[in-house]
Amino acid sequence: MADRIQLLPDNIANQIAAGEVIQRPASAVKELLENAVDAGATEIKLIINDAGKSLLQVIDNGQGMSETDARMCFERHATSKIQNIDDLFHIRTMGFRGEALASIAAVAQVELRTRKADNEVGTCIEIENSVVTRQQPVATPVGTSICMKNLFFNVPARRNFLKSNAAEMRHIIDEFIRVALAFPQVFFSLNTNGQQIFYLEAGSLKQRILQILGSNYNSKLVSVKEETDYLNIYGFVGKPDIAKKTRGDQYFFVNNRFIKSPYLNHAVMNAFQDTITLDSFPMYVLFIDLDPAQVDVNVHPTKQEIKFEDEKIVYAFVQAAVKHALAQFSITPTLDFDLDSSIQQLESIQKPFTEEKKLETASSNIYRTFTEANQAHKIEPNELNHWSDLSEQQTTSNRQSEFQSLGRFLLKTEEETATQLSTHHSPFTTEEANLTQLFNTYILLPTAESFLMVHQQLAHERIIYERMTNALQGKPVATQRSLFPSTIELTPADTVLLNELLPDLHQLGYTIEPFGKSAFVIQGTPADFESGNEKMILERILEQYKHFSSEIKLSKREMLLRTVAWQQAIKTGVALSEKEMRNLISDLFQCQQPNISPAGKPTYLEFKKDHLEKMFGK
Ligand SMILES: Nc1ncnc2c1ncn2[C@@H]1O[C@H](COP(=O)(O)OP(=O)(O)OP(=O)(O)O)[C@@H](O)[C@H]1O
Ligand SMILES: [Mg+2]
Repeated sequence: MADRIQLLPDNIANQIAAGEVIQRPASAVKELLENAVDAGATEIKLIINDAGKSLLQVIDNGQGMSETDARMCFERHATSKIQNIDDLFHIRTMGFRGEALASIAAVAQVELRTRKADNEVGTCIEIENSVVTRQQPVATPVGTSICMKNLFFNVPARRNFLKSNAAEMRHIIDEFIRVALAFPQVFFSLNTNGQQIFYLEAGSLKQRILQILGSNYNSKLVSVKEETDYLNIYGFVGKPDIAKKTRGDQYFFVNNRFIKSPYLNHAVMNAFQDTITLDSFPMYVLFIDLDPAQVDVNVHPTKQEIKFEDEKIVYAFVQAAVKHALAQFSITPTLDFDLDSSIQQLESIQKPFTEEKKLETASSNIYRTFTEANQAHKIEPNELNHWSDLSEQQTTSNRQSEFQSLGRFLLKTEEETATQLSTHHSPFTTEEANLTQLFNTYILLPTAESFLMVHQQLAHERIIYERMTNALQGKPVATQRSLFPSTIELTPADTVLLNELLPDLHQLGYTIEPFGKSAFVIQGTPADFESGNEKMILERILEQYKHFSSEIKLSKREMLLRTVAWQQAIKTGVALSEKEMRNLISDLFQCQQPNISPAGKPTYLEFKKDHLEKMFGK
């Protein structure tokens, strides 16, 4: 039988390899920006058209390449950054695999212009499908410009996998932000479809954070700085009071490389323990610098996962550094530049922070919560088991219709109900419908053989979720126009996100119109929804939406529905009148799926009489 194995042609091999490095326009952005940083650029410009699908260009003023290098850089495994495997463990550059440009040239049409300072003319190379189609000398500034056109023009299947422009643009902005945060000493700009959305002057890390994540973080940042022989940690964490419902603004950089690390994130969360609620996420931008020999950066093609030689030590350092920073912030006032001068005069601000004072505060309660793990509230998982068993039993349609009739029943007046009861054989009697609110969170609802404990927020989320689902499928929700429309100014990333959500939000009763580059006017909100602080409502919607997108894979609509349901729902901690409780329960049991919240948590628990008796040993 004939031999069957043959070598793949270079361009096919490159296309296959490109799959790992270049998944979408944002991956090319990351690679090209990192190359520019590695080339020592102090100014890096990113230009995007059509979310990078038609054009993506990076222009830097770095060291440039010679004529030969300009040709070599597109070869696979061609790099100037390492020479042998040992170098990997001394690496200070972002790149080292020599794969990025080869991959990009395999899946797009690329034009490179580059010049070194000591050359009078530069080189221009055009390459497509891994084949150089043109090379000639050009007049060009010192540095490099790489222009990538028609990404995946030759791999239609991949091109079809790309998401909407708005979604791809969000990925691009994410990558841009990661690199721009890591190198505040470098100027970065981002232009898209002729519009400038970032213009970041070189400056301090704090300035960069405020430029990118929003100036509302000003005076809300706590500096973290610890230096040891093993590693240095520096950066900022947000004060606990601005912890958000979204994981969004959380960044770790190891030797300036952005990494994703649930493990180190846990260390920060741990340090924030007792200062923020369990469902909120602190903001942080933390840099860990350590000997490259202590990290393996070559465990993932995009290098966003790394391996520490000793992960536990790094965890302990991160946790201690953040705790220390927080403890200091809680005992020393933060000085604001525009602080009132009368406040500046205060003794506590004038007086130096002495050793004696330190001891005093170290024994204070606030300080101790930072340093002691408080275990008193901990519940063993098995304690909860039988309650979840109970909620599972409630899914039978039988129970559901029983509760639906309870819902209707609760809305009736007492006389009406008496007749209703006798005709429908409902298991509930008038006395049992007395509703009690517990901890301003649960509504207790006795029935003949059990009592229900309804979670007011989760139940309300379910009600709104189903109402909104219907609205998206049919008639839009009525809008109530605001008398005084408010304007909201958003960060570039949020602007892109909101533009993407506008049509669906409109269907759900939110009338919002773009106003200039990054501002929006909120003209109206859903009619049956208490109006008030529209601006905050919108900020929360975006925040929660991002939270969902980082947590779970859901369709855009589903995320929006869950977000709006969460936003509009009565929250825990709110006292309800008898009538409000009745309406809520009634609406809940009219739902198609009353027993679970949109996110799949139980909306109520049922405590059966015989279960209770068993618990009392009867
Ligand atoms: N903007 C640039 N300015 C100067 N030289 C560059 C630039 N971009 C790439 N190069 C040169 O081209 C080489 C290949 O780049 P490429 O991105 O493919 O690989 P790499 O950066 O070495 O490794 P990795 O694949 O991990 O990114 C680099 O090693 C560098 O010498
Ligand atoms: Mg590179």
